[in-house]
Amino acid sequence: MYCGADVSEDINIIRLSAWYRPASNRPEVLPIAARGYPADVSNVSADSDTYIHGHDASVLAQHLRRTAEEAAAFLLPRIPVGARLLDVGCGPGSITAGLAQHTNGGSVLAIDVVGDVLRGARDLLAERDIHNADLSSASVYRLPIADAAFDVAYAHQVLQHLSRPVEALREMRRVLKPGGLIAVRDADYGTMVHWPKDRRLDRFQQIYHAVAQRNEVDADAGRRIPSWLKEAGFDQIEISTSVWTFDDSESTGNWGNSWAVRTLKSALAEQAIEYGLATQAELEEISNAWREWARHPDAFFMFIHVEGLGIRT
Ligand SMILES: C[S@@+](CC[C@H](N)C(=O)[O-])C[C@H]1O[C@@H](n2cnc3c(N)ncnc32)[C@H](O)[C@@H]1O
Repeated sequence: MYCGADVSEDINIIRLSAWYRPASNRPEVLPIAARGYPADVSNVSADSDTYIHGHDASVLAQHLRRTAEEAAAFLLPRIPVGARLLDVGCGPGSITAGLAQHTNGGSVLAIDVVGDVLRGARDLLAERDIHNADLSSASVYRLPIADAAFDVAYAHQVLQHLSRPVEALREMRRVLKPGGLIAVRDADYGTMVHWPKDRRLDRFQQIYHAVAQRNEVDADAGRRIPSWLKEAGFDQIEISTSVWTFDDSESTGNWGNSWAVRTLKSALAEQAIEYGLATQAELEEISNAWREWARHPDAFFMFIHVEGLGIRT
């Protein structure tokens, strides 16, 4: 079962940080200009693909449910004591916060291409009294980081949003020390199944895949992780899989009601309409289907994640 905070349509995740104490053991982050960025660090949009989810409160509420214990279970036992860990595409930072607690005297640098989402992440770290994590606005395609600076580079649900995933993995490889560990995990939307049958939810899957394809990204990224890691030059690759299962009223209620909102309010909705892949009326029908599914006593949903570990030799 997937569990965590409640979904609220009114939730306001992004709050300006009043106070944040920086980490004492920081990884080396070069001045932005040293890696070819303009002085304004928020101006990294040229490196950004079209992000299908966007950062609507309904999306962030769902991402905030994630924990390092679940999302990085395949990595945690492998984190060296005192590790310097890079968290790529950290979003609202709930996984980052957990990772920071698993570095055993080390530190985390978390980056995201969207500067705004880092404000919420900064608050979260302060609220949890975590002082060994830093945040930076940057794109994975051009990390403002020296070569061989990190022991571990991690990305959760990021490759599926990138039009150049192998290029991103090569850039993560560049900032790993020899012997350093890459750890990536992505969903595979093609493995999503629901019960009871509902043609409107089948249509949702079609629209999601079509929007991803239009954005030149792969919603079925999970199955491609093994080949992408190989192509990016990693060795000793280890692959595992895990399943998110929604089978009780709490988890199906949360998942279904969350997607009911996201189907209408997130970037996905805007892109589906802008690309001519769905109409507003159709999205409203799908949103209703999610709400009906969320309260169905037999509601069931599952999908597979693929996890990959590899060594930079
Ligand atoms: C699905 S969210 C995952 C967030 C977090 N890792 C988690 O699992 O909760 C994907 C994140 O990747 C970020 N992202 C997209 N393209 C990126 C890029 N080129 N460089 C860095 N981050 C990127 C998005 O802004 C978004 O916050």
